[in-house]
Amino acid sequence: MKGIVLAGGSGTRLHPVTSVVSKQILPVYNKPMIYYPLSVLMIAGIREIQIISTPQHVGLFQALLGDGSRLGLDLTYAVQPAPRGIAEAFVIGADHIGDDTCALILGDNVFHGSGLYGLLREHTAHVDGCVLFGYSVKDPERYGVGEVDASGRLVALEEKPSAPRSNLAITGLYLYDNDVIDIAKNLRPSARGELEITDVNRHYLAQGKARLVDLGRGFAWLDTGTHDALLQASQYVQALEQRQGVWIACLEEIAFRMGFIDAEACHRLGRESTHAGYGTYLMELASQGAR
Ligand code: DAU
Repeated sequence: MKGIVLAGGSGTRLHPVTSVVSKQILPVYNKPMIYYPLSVLMIAGIREIQIISTPQHVGLFQALLGDGSRLGLDLTYAVQPAPRGIAEAFVIGADHIGDDTCALILGDNVFHGSGLYGLLREHTAHVDGCVLFGYSVKDPERYGVGEVDASGRLVALEEKPSAPRSNLAITGLYLYDNDVIDIAKNLRPSARGELEITDVNRHYLAQGKARLVDLGRGFAWLDTGTHDALLQASQYVQALEQRQGVWIACLEEIAFRMGFIDAEACHRLGRESTHAGYGTYLMELASQGAR
């Protein structure tokens, strides 16, 4: 399975903070925002990942993450010339996906929960159609919304409905079979001029090939869309990290735990770290041989 992190867009809701910098570079407590979605793809075992961003900002991600080899990843970069919709990621990333399946994650989506590894492992193993992840929120009108029947089967999808028929938001993590490339290439822009991810998902739904996995209450899916939400996401990460003494979305740690790098490489990354606390954390992890 190939991965895509979509990290473009205009970020207007966070102006002036994002007037000259990419939203997905902003800190969520102590790490750039993109670390969080990237960590989700890594936890899913995905190593070949394309990061798509704007012409102005793609270089920032490249400077931050490089070719990914220090983390045992293969990172490539592509440009979305204008924010023409989330589904354009599959047109831009078609060569990267090749004939494989694909996981797309939005660069501003932060997930946290202890069962993530098992959940992703289960659902990425064999993707026939699409797999969406739902999360109950109190303001579903701000998101794509899924309607399920009494048996939990997905029956309808709507993008930002003014009168949502459920409170199940569709999160920004999506798994697709290879048909997604053709589906995206044949989409027509919506009234707001975008290739809508919800239209891709509706296409699969019409074919009876869309599955919804409800993340349930054991996970956190954090919003970063407003100044307040971004601050709250930072406070969430801060509270957990300080209480538990572990780092959330520490890419080096995940690379080590997933077996993408060995203990020696993890230790070296710790030694090279310019942040003493972070460095010590990685070196201790490597010495314990934690898996
Ligand atoms: O976060 C989940 C939600 O993401 C879903 O529930 C919605 O169905 C989906 O449409 C999307 O809604 P948003 O209102 O959050 O979409 P937004 O336009 O803000 O884009 C989400 C992220 O994707 C954002 O970080 C910018 C990036 N993006 C967006 C577009 C439209 C791009 O990189 N390129 C684009 O063309």
